[in-house]
This record gives sequence, C-alpha cells and structure tokens, in this order.
Amino acid sequence: MTQSLAPAVVPKAELHVHIEGAASPELVRELAQQNGVDVTGLFAEDGAYAWSDFTQFLAAYDSASRVFRTPQDYTRLSETYLRSIAEQGAIYAELTISPDHAAAAGLSYADYVGGLAEGIYRAREATGIEARMIVVGVRHFGARAVEQVAAQVTARPHPLVTGFGLAGDEAEGHPANFARAFRMAGEAGLGLTAHAGETAGAESVTAALDFLQVSRIGHGVRAIEDTAVVERLARDGIVLEVCPGSNLALGLYGALRFHPVNLLRRAGCRITLNSDDPPFFGTTLGEEYEGCARTFGWSREQCLDITRTAIGAAFCDEDTRGHLLRAVADAAGAPPAPA
Ligand code: ADE
Ligand code: ZN
Repeated sequence: MTQSLAPAVVPKAELHVHIEGAASPELVRELAQQNGVDVTGLFAEDGAYAWSDFTQFLAAYDSASRVFRTPQDYTRLSETYLRSIAEQGAIYAELTISPDHAAAAGLSYADYVGGLAEGIYRAREATGIEARMIVVGVRHFGARAVEQVAAQVTARPHPLVTGFGLAGDEAEGHPANFARAFRMAGEAGLGLTAHAGETAGAESVTAALDFLQVSRIGHGVRAIEDTAVVERLARDGIVLEVCPGSNLALGLYGALRFHPVNLLRRAGCRITLNSDDPPFFGTTLGEEYEGCARTFGWSREQCLDITRTAIGAAFCDEDTRGHLLRAVADAAGAPPAPA
C-alpha cells in the first residue's frame, strides 16, 4: 500500500461563530432580493458590509439577519458555512444562534432551529463535519428577554442545541442580571459561555465568572489587563474563545503581534481560535490559525493543541468528543504541513 505524501491540513475546531455573522454579503444580497427586504446602507461601494465601530457593527449584523425569512434560508446558511470551514480543515463547529434575531424576521424558534439543523445534517453528510448550536440571549435586550430565550430553549430541547450564552453589547447590564437565565439553562444540562472581556475590561470577565457559572468565555482577552484575572482563568481551566481577527477589526489591538492571545496561552490559559463574524471582520477560521502560527511562531503541534483544547471544551457528548480527538490524533501522526 502506498502512503499519501500530500501534506495534511491541521484539523480545526471552532467554538465561537455567530451564524448570521457568518453570512456572506453575496448571500445576504441574494436573499434580500428574493425575500423583498430593504438592506439600504448595509453595504459599502465595494460590496462589503459597511460599519465602522462596534455599535454600527451590531446594527449591520441586525440588518443582515433580517433577510433570513424561512427555515430553508437558514438551512442554506448553516450548510454553506459548515462546508466552507470543512474545506479549511474544520472537523467541529458550534454555531451561535439567536432566536431574538430570527423572531425579528418573523421566524419561530422551532423553524429557526429546525432550518439550521437541516443544514448541519447536510454538511455532515457531505463533509463529515460535526456541529452543535449555542443559543444566546442578547445582553442589550435586557434580563427579561434573555430569560425568555432561556425558557424557550429549555422548553423545547433539541439534540443539536447543547449550549447557552450571552452576546450583544457588554457595556449594557451587569452579569448578575442574567444569573437566573443561566441557572435555568445550566439546570437543563446546557453548556454555558458568555461574551466578556471584549469591549469591556478584566472586571467584566470576573463578573461573568462570578455570576454565570460559565466554563468558557467568549473572547476574554482583556483579562490580560489584570494579572489576578489571568491567574484565575488558568487555575480554573476556563476556556477562552479567542477571536483575534474580530478584535483587530473592532480596533482593540493595532496588529496581531500586539494581540494578547500568545501571552494568555503562555500564562497557562486554555486558548481556542475562532472567527466570530467572519465576513464582517474579513477573516476565516483557517486564517485565524495561519495568522497566529505565523505571527507567534506556533508549531504544527501547538496548532493541534488549540484544536484539542476546543474539542476538550466542546458542548458535545463524550462519544463525539472521543471520535473528534481520535481524528486529531490521526492527523498528529500524519506528515507535517503548514497550519
Ligand atoms: N454578536 C455578534 N458578534 C458579536 C460580538 N463580537 N460581540 C458581541 N456580540 C456579538
Ligand atoms: Zn461573538
């Protein structure tokens, strides 16, 4: 038997990507026309999404979400996105989904989740990629709205919905306000994560840890501003869903070499790499791995470790975790290749 000498791509896993934020401008323009949705102001002259600060980004995200009107629109979105990252070497992804955004476009929770799930099954059939969904409440919609989302998720369990989280504007509302929603979700067996330490500082990470019982933090990178918080993350094994390209696009850091991901890793924090809202931020999952490997001199083995960390922290069943870890082990034995 001859063994292939083709270099093996690093298997990747993504824990943090907002599904509406993964929609390409082309798909959004097509669906806007098909579904008769006004997207005036959403695109720049070159066809890319138009926004220039965090508030405008959130508004652009809301506007792009409005074009998804049917379960089939969401099937197309999840299938397209998962196939695209499977081509970049992804073997697992968790899609962050927001029932509030679907409701604003007139879609029920059941239709939203059902449509996305169909795309997940199709992508798995075509590429082998595994995926789950994390339902988020939107922080700036307030505690009542987030509790309603938690109530919806727990009342209608779905085998692919395995996590609960908090997205939106970190400047709004103390995590204590969302403790009840997180308690409901946690008691229902969902994995817990929350955006913190992105547009707000280390104190926001501390508050999320204190009040929300999370095992993971979305972003969390501004923990670097307080050594005690970094030590706490490392000691407690909290996993950071780091999204370097998103942080650069939103102006948190001027260049990747100034991004704290490598400092956090070296301080013992558990790091994963993610694309957040890839076409909005001009990134892809593959580029996140490649950029960090190039900028920080990470070896293939260190890149594989990023994937192992993500799989170790994934909100999936143990059979799936074992199967994914075996895929990484197989790739670790394969001939070396760039990330
Ligand atoms: N929703 C979509 N992308 C987000 C981000 N980067 N931060 C907070 N909420 C979001
Ligand atoms: Zn995010």
